[in-house]
Amino acid sequence: MAYTMFGQQKVGKIMAVKYTRPKGTLDVLPAGSWKWKYAEGAMRKAAEVFGFQEMRMPTFESTGLFSRSVGEATDIVLKEMYTFDDKAGRSMTLRPEGTAGVVRAVLENGLLASSPLPLKCYYIQSAFRYENSQKGRYREFHQFGVECYGTHCPESDAEVMAVARHLLNQCGLGGLVQLEINSIGCPECRKAYHEQLRAYFGAREKELCHNCKDRLQENPMRLLDCKEEKCKVIAQDAPIILDYLCDECRNHFEEVKLILSEANMEYIVNPRIVRGLDYYTNTVFEFTANGIGTQGTVCGGGRYNGLIEMLGGQPTPAVGFGLGVERFLMLLEENKKLPKAPAGPFLYAVAQGEKGRQAARRCTAQLRAAGLYAECDLLQRSVKAQMKAAGRQAARYIVVLGDEEAKSGIARLKRMCDSAEAEVPLVALLSILHYLNSEDPLAEGGGDLGLMVESVGPSVIFDD
Ligand code: HAM
Repeated sequence: MAYTMFGQQKVGKIMAVKYTRPKGTLDVLPAGSWKWKYAEGAMRKAAEVFGFQEMRMPTFESTGLFSRSVGEATDIVLKEMYTFDDKAGRSMTLRPEGTAGVVRAVLENGLLASSPLPLKCYYIQSAFRYENSQKGRYREFHQFGVECYGTHCPESDAEVMAVARHLLNQCGLGGLVQLEINSIGCPECRKAYHEQLRAYFGAREKELCHNCKDRLQENPMRLLDCKEEKCKVIAQDAPIILDYLCDECRNHFEEVKLILSEANMEYIVNPRIVRGLDYYTNTVFEFTANGIGTQGTVCGGGRYNGLIEMLGGQPTPAVGFGLGVERFLMLLEENKKLPKAPAGPFLYAVAQGEKGRQAARRCTAQLRAAGLYAECDLLQRSVKAQMKAAGRQAARYIVVLGDEEAKSGIARLKRMCDSAEAEVPLVALLSILHYLNSEDPLAEGGGDLGLMVESVGPSVIFDD
């Protein structure tokens, strides 16, 4: 696999080979993983305050599940799926999206019969599409998705949109992302619309890309979603579905709009939204933003009333969305809406000599046992190098523990933010640190460290 290698080197008798990550994938590194934890935490919180419960599905499923659900004529199924035969010759596919797997799991586990309706669930998981990777578009990406089963009511369309809106607002992105909605009707009202589309695109068939020519008869709405520039230009003047909705679908859409307005959720109607997956019916929506490259859609979803029946269940209405975690993080980053990076260690115990290292190990072990983040040196470095390390890690306090301190029973505690220092009896070190953790009113500097230390009674931490 030449393209994933970036070098070969002889190490002794072994030829070492270095690999690069596959195109369109990302590494989440230690210094940045807190951003993911923050985003995922906010997503979980948003889902859970609306009563959605987490589900976890396999990363791969039978290929047929996706080709049937997402649609044989979609770009995802035609061009983008990671499909392979397993060792028993079964065709498997890495999930290109979350909804099909949720429906499969809901049906397989009988959840629609055994749980009260509506059934509301969410997931945060990877998805895989073999796309041309660029800013905001990856081959492995992550989606926060919510799905709601068992209600036709327009309130449920509005509720799933409200989950996304709530998340965006909570994270300071409210004003930067706009909600666009449309209705693509039911299979009945789409019949007449498909005829109009075939007539419109048919008249310009020669100018269309290969795929669109093929899809024209089978599923003309897919032409509205083609990523080829020449097809996009033609699609701009195509007839719009809103002119072809049946009474029931039009009423449903009107009610969704009314409920959104009642909840002060601003939206614009964009009749060009059709979504890139075939399972949608009625309401479709996208949350879009500027500044995340050409991939401005951070969240997309809608109603999919036919999918459960198509996958062998009783006819059951459904609505949900998928929100791209990478795009969400890009928005947070670019708009400076990420919170402060998490704090460094509460204490760095700097050790000098063998006795000091023992003391530092015991001290950090006791703080950790009490749930505090504490560090000590693992490299047997000099005191100076340990001080530097404590600074690099942004430790809040340091204490030096060595032969001298052991002899005198006194150590110096330093608060790093303002370099304030105080003498601390070793026997009281643990209780002082606990006190400082709960009481230091000015972690940013300023509280009188000496006074605070004095106000704590002794407790034994070095018991030998
Ligand atoms: P989707 O529009 O294909 O819908 O994807 C949802 C979101 O996933 C997009 O809005 C985008 O933020 C993110 N996304 C999609 N492809 C990529 C990519 N290649 N790189 C980075 N981010 C990407 C669905 O997947 C539906 N299952 C959503 C849904 C759930 N509808 C109803 N329930």
